[in-house]
Amino acid sequence: MLGARGGWRALRRCPSSIVSSSSFSSSFSSFSSSSSLPREQRAPAARLRVRQALGAREAAGEVQVQGWVRSIRSQKEVLFLHINDGSSLESLQVVADPSMESRDLTFGSAVEVRGKLVKSPHKMQNMELKAESIRVVGPCDTLSFPLKAKERHPLEYVRQFPHLRCRSNALGALLRIRSEATAAIHSFFQDHGYVHIHTPIITSNDCEGAGELFQIETSNETQKSAEKNHFFNVPAFLTVSGQLHLEVMAGAFTHVFTFGPTFRAENSQSRRHLAEFYMVEAELSFTESLQDIMQVMEDLFKTATSTVFSRCPRDVELFHKYVAPAQKGRLEQMLKNKFVTISYNEAVEILKQASQTFAFKPEWGCDLQTEHEKYLVQHCGEVPVFVINYPYDLKPFYMRDNEDGPQRTVAAVDLLVPGIGELCGGSLREERLPFLQSRLQRLGLADTYQWYLDLRKFGSVPHGGFGMGFERYLQYILGVDNIKDVIPFPRFPHSCLL
Ligand code: 4AD
Ligand code: MG
Repeated sequence: MLGARGGWRALRRCPSSIVSSSSFSSSFSSFSSSSSLPREQRAPAARLRVRQALGAREAAGEVQVQGWVRSIRSQKEVLFLHINDGSSLESLQVVADPSMESRDLTFGSAVEVRGKLVKSPHKMQNMELKAESIRVVGPCDTLSFPLKAKERHPLEYVRQFPHLRCRSNALGALLRIRSEATAAIHSFFQDHGYVHIHTPIITSNDCEGAGELFQIETSNETQKSAEKNHFFNVPAFLTVSGQLHLEVMAGAFTHVFTFGPTFRAENSQSRRHLAEFYMVEAELSFTESLQDIMQVMEDLFKTATSTVFSRCPRDVELFHKYVAPAQKGRLEQMLKNKFVTISYNEAVEILKQASQTFAFKPEWGCDLQTEHEKYLVQHCGEVPVFVINYPYDLKPFYMRDNEDGPQRTVAAVDLLVPGIGELCGGSLREERLPFLQSRLQRLGLADTYQWYLDLRKFGSVPHGGFGMGFERYLQYILGVDNIKDVIPFPRFPHSCLL
């Protein structure tokens, strides 16, 4: 017999998330036949997750469901509870005798309910649990509990309670979507033959060269002052990108990806910047064209999004109904159409001709500001836009010279999306030793990057890759305004105690 965990795993594999009566009884045998025995002689009740119970096709005997009370309504003849265990947005209705009510049975309390799973007479739900016993596992002080029954708490409100907000509907849905999106991104790359690499979190390189680094030092003051030495003998930082390490691996595995935490010491008060965020990065060897990299970006975006929409429709619907009502239609349209591509030159021309006045005057050679990115996306019809071939001097040392003038542009690409701005950044890498060597020499970095130059000496191939900010991706597909609402724990200052 499969245990309850085995049953749940079997359910996860079942695409419709529905438990058939046969799989139900084989997974949790004996609950119907043993119900006439005295309680102590009965087989233990089968433990069901709420999602399993809601998806069951047929009634079932002795089952046990655990979770937290989301609503409680006491009538003369009957007591109704809704309990949720995080396995789905929907809660399971429990129908009980009013005698089972107790002082501790309140909104927010943790309960274990045993009883029979039966077809529900209500249109809106498939199954309900007829309680035979209710045990309060952990009471909840409803007066001081910041979440309230029957209230739709705004994202800004629950942000104040980083340790409790995962119990709200919106954060519950968000975190299930985040989990599915993570799996979808991994599957996309695995299905296309990429090798997943864990790139280091502590590193000595500043891949982007923008100086947005958190430096690592030991907290041992004595050692620090006595030796004036770095813990690793060289300055060490939290990674700003796994790209350079991926380039090493692309020299052996051809197609590689990483998906891990990334750190940037930049203004984290903005609604699209975090000091700690997740980045998906891919690197492809034997790739000569920027368009091939852009195709992977577009395919990744579309495949992951369609997968998330089909795997957790109710959770996604919550955002598209209450947080960003117009987002669903826009995204469905976007999934059907090809992303637009413009060059940096064209972008600057569009901006110069705009009737709008910008705080930063658009000039060739200057970085695109958020206001510019917004305008470009709007100008192209509120769709994702690739901007390619940026000025050489604006971009990091590793980008490939387009040779369209003396160090004029590099084969770089940014993907801009409505409401967010830059979602992905990528490029072809400079694979030619003399070009890379002279650029690093001019920057005074040739010694530091000797190992990187080695990659151009030993079987160098044209290659390129990109990185996508995972939180910005979630923000975009769900229409969430503030990036701090798509992470499990809001960062400082709210989570300083966690
Ligand atoms: O454009 P970026 O800086 O590119 C790189 O780091 C490349 N080395 C990636 C590569 O080619 N392998 O960062 C990539 C993406 C950005 O487009 C943005 O979506 C996200 O990472 N990002 C941030 N997201 C949240 N908070 C921040 N502070 C971010 N900085 C970058
Ligand atoms: Mg960038």
